[in-house]
Formats: sequence, structure tokens, C-alpha cells
Amino acid sequence: MSGHDLLDEKTGIIFGALNEDSIAWSIAQACDREGADFALSNAPVARRLGSLDELAEETDSSVIWADATDDEELEDLFEEVKDEYGTIDFIVHSIGMGVNVRKDVPYEDLNYNWYEQTLDISAVSLHRIIQHALATEAIDDGGSIITMSYIGGQRIFSKYSEMGDAKALLESIVRSFGYRLGKRDIRINAISQSPTKTTAGSGIEGFDAMYEFAEKAAPLGNASAEECADYAVTLLSDLTRKVTMQTLYHDGGFSRMGISDEIVEALEESFRKEQEDE
Ligand SMILES: NC(=O)c1ccc[n+]([C@@H]2O[C@H](COP(=O)([O-])OP(=O)(O)OC[C@H]3O[C@@H](n4cnc5c(N)ncnc54)[C@H](O)[C@@H]3O)[C@@H](O)[C@H]2O)c1
Repeated sequence: MSGHDLLDEKTGIIFGALNEDSIAWSIAQACDREGADFALSNAPVARRLGSLDELAEETDSSVIWADATDDEELEDLFEEVKDEYGTIDFIVHSIGMGVNVRKDVPYEDLNYNWYEQTLDISAVSLHRIIQHALATEAIDDGGSIITMSYIGGQRIFSKYSEMGDAKALLESIVRSFGYRLGKRDIRINAISQSPTKTTAGSGIEGFDAMYEFAEKAAPLGNASAEECADYAVTLLSDLTRKVTMQTLYHDGGFSRMGISDEIVEALEESFRKEQEDE
């Protein structure tokens, strides 16, 4: 897709690009295409696990390493952002990890230290980032903040486990901070995205089944990371100045569906096979 200069003269910071599969990676490429100038950030451990420097080179951005659960690192990060970019217009929060999920601990047996880490990384980090952006006066009036959510924060997707709690908290922080940020015309929204084949996505047990189920249910099919990035650009642009505190579904219509012909047919086929095997 060619750019439309939607983010011309806008500056920002994008958290959470690990490798080219990351949703934040596509968002950074789309922001670059639309004319924005931005810094990229990820946890220091991602330096060895991912390829963020390549994206920085491609988009002519600087990389500022910071753990999004560490207050001091975030404060330093925003001071650095201000030095390099002045006050910024947008923040993209695309960070998440389920520690119990990764270690295959079922919801009934959650390890609470890991649970706290999950909530801290996946939800409270949004609060911390905004708090430090405000305290350091790094964000401009009229700015836009987005974060990434999943429908498992609203409804039960059995294998999503503790991440459902993290997304519910994340969406609540969007509303609570949204009210307060409104006084400065800063808006904040969560994009509730389709299952997407990324490192975090594939870490969820049963991800392939969730992906296929959503693909068969959604009238438009699952949304890709690139399509998500195009939507994200509109929310960072001046075209959406009065949209705030929302969970916005970017899921090909999945969230409005009950069952589709494709799923009915797939289930009927599996019932037929079961009966034949009996
Ligand atoms: N992949 C999906 O199916 C899907 C669907 C809906 C929403 N989301 C959400 O999208 C967001 C991005 O995930 P993704 O799918 O692109 O996977 P990803 O693994 O590429 O991105 C997750 C990012 O979080 C970063 N991170 C983890 N701990 C951190 C910390 N302490 N400090 C700073 N950064 C940290 C990782 O380094 C990584 O870059 C997450 O919030 C995820 O829950 C993903």
C-alpha cells in the first residue's frame, strides 16, 4: 500500500516489536510509510532474542531499550525520547506475556508470582508508560495512545487462561486513564485484534485451533498484522480525534458472530467420522 501522509510531522514511540512477525513491527512500518518519526523500544532481553536493530535501520528510528515493568528505565526512556524527538504525539503499547501460560500451568493452579508478572508485563506496563510520559512531560496535548487487546479479555477462550484477566485489566486501564487524559485532549484506545501468528500468539496452547476457529467464523476472515497496522495508523492520525476509551474490534467481524456455515459443516463432518468409527 502507498502512504497518505496521515502521520506527517507526527512523532512517537512504539513498544513491542521483537521480530518481523510482531504486530508492532508492522505498525512501525506503516507509521514510517505515513511519514511519522519515532523511537522503538523493547525489553533489554529482546536485544538477543529479536531483530529490532534491523527495523530501526529500515525506518530510520532509534532504539531505546527499557523493561516496561521498571519505573527507572521508563523515566530514563522518556527523557531520552524528549532529547531526541521533543514532545511526542503518539505511543503504541504492544507488549504482552503470560508467564503461567508459557509454563503450561493451568488456571486453577496459577503460580501467583508469575501471575503478578503476567499482569505487570501485559497490563500495568501501559499504566506505567503513561504515568512516566506525563511525569516527564514527554507527550503533547492532542496526542493518541493505542494498546493491543484480544477478545479473551471479554469472553472465555479456555486456553487463554490468565491472559484473559490481563486483557480485562488492560482494557479497564484504557478507560480509567482515558477519562483523565481527556482533559488534555489525549485519546487512548485498545485494538482487539484477531489471532495473529506471532511469537506471543504461538506461545498460547491451542493457538492454531483458535486461529482456525476465528478464521472460519469471521465473515472477513482473520485480520493480519499488516491490516492491523493500517487500522492503527488511523487511530494515531488526526482523523479519529474524538475516539477514546474504546475497545475497538479489528477481527473481520468475529466478535459479532455466533456460528457460521463453515463451522457447522466442519462439526457435522467430525460427527459423521465419529459415528463411522463407532
Ligand atoms: N498474536 C495474537 O494472536 C494477538 C492477538 C490479539 C492481541 N495480541 C497482543 O498484541 C501485543 C503484541 O504481541 P504480538 O502478538 O505482536 O507478539 P510479540 O511476541 O511479537 O510481541 C510481544 C512483545 O512484548 C515484549 N515484552 C515482553 N515483556 C516485556 C517487558 N517486560 N518490557 C518490554 N517489552 C516486553 C516482547 O519483547 C515482544 O516484543 C500483545 O499485547 C498481545 O497480547 C496478540
